[in-house]
Amino acid sequence: MKFFSYNPSTPVSEKVFTEIQRVINSGQFIGGLDVLKFEEAFGDYTGSSEVATCGNGLDALMLCINDLDLPEKSKIAVSGHTFFASWLAVLNSGHMPVGVDTNLGNLQMSTLALEETIRKEEIKAVVYVHMHGIMGDIQLIADICKSFSIPLIEDCAQAHGLRLETKHAGTFGDYGAFSFYPTKNLPALGDGGAVISLRKKLDSVRTRSNYGWFPGDRDVNRVNGINSRLDTIQAVILKVHLENLDAFNLRRTQIAEKYSEVLQKSIHIDCLSKETQNVWHHFPIRLNKRDLFRKYLSARNIPTQIHYPIPCHLQPAYLNTLTPNSKMNHLPNTELISKTIVSLPLHPWLTDDEVELVTLGLKEWIQLNG
Ligand SMILES: Cc1ncc(COP(=O)(O)O)c(C=O)c1O
Repeated sequence: MKFFSYNPSTPVSEKVFTEIQRVINSGQFIGGLDVLKFEEAFGDYTGSSEVATCGNGLDALMLCINDLDLPEKSKIAVSGHTFFASWLAVLNSGHMPVGVDTNLGNLQMSTLALEETIRKEEIKAVVYVHMHGIMGDIQLIADICKSFSIPLIEDCAQAHGLRLETKHAGTFGDYGAFSFYPTKNLPALGDGGAVISLRKKLDSVRTRSNYGWFPGDRDVNRVNGINSRLDTIQAVILKVHLENLDAFNLRRTQIAEKYSEVLQKSIHIDCLSKETQNVWHHFPIRLNKRDLFRKYLSARNIPTQIHYPIPCHLQPAYLNTLTPNSKMNHLPNTELISKTIVSLPLHPWLTDDEVELVTLGLKEWIQLNG
């Protein structure tokens, strides 16, 4: 059993292959109507007035940060518990990430820690990460940012289809940045990314992502830019997958419910309760005997992963950017999470037999370890 594998023989993938063939026959491989159609569909789905696609999730974050035109070396508050890309986007844009600690309960940025960080440091922007497809306190985070007049970027790389009632992740702040990496809830079959917004026009994001060219004026480079575009083939794949995103997320939720039913019987495993609005990009649990647990499952052909074993504020790439006198971030909950967290296999293409194998393994572990 693999931790993740796309099933290439379903009605959805058949439609995907037909669309890929159509793009190949058309000869249009970069941009064109199909990219615009995906942007329109993603805007309709998320309720965003603006969508600008790009090459990947890291670029999407950097394009948002650069669009703010902040002074060099501005301090940007970032979720402590996240994949390093959220911090790298800040570093690569010439700014300083300031880590914000995490709630142990829902593994999302703590609102109290954010307020404290804003009061202590001169924070110029906030990057809130919707981790694992779990709904946190995003409305409160948006309210805090608004009250301090600080722009809010939502990192939605793990949150496609995540909603608070009807409002989509990525529409609470100024920008939502998405990755369409193949394991994401809305997957491309390669790299892809997008920026969405309800508040901002994204014309300069589009210009920056395409060499700094303004529409219809390809001879003059008036601003710096990068080459970060969504391939036409990925756009048609994403459009088909978008039509099935709610079904993919429903399957994720059903599997998560099966796992939580079993896990809630354990006194040693911290399992998030089965909140219906979560879209479960990962299914993370926390336990002290993590290494033994992983070995036990691995012996039963059940793979697990750790998201993520080293917190961003302890990563060498970040530490190397600090001057000797810099104050280090101290994020105790984030550090505890990195030592105890483990993800079980969960994606829409898991078979019923594979889900059964995992639940049996969990039941056996609980019988032996409580
Ligand atoms: C939270 C988070 N942010 C950003 C990214 C970066 O996305 P990409 O791999 O498309 O650059 C990822 C990707 O895994 C992610 O999980």
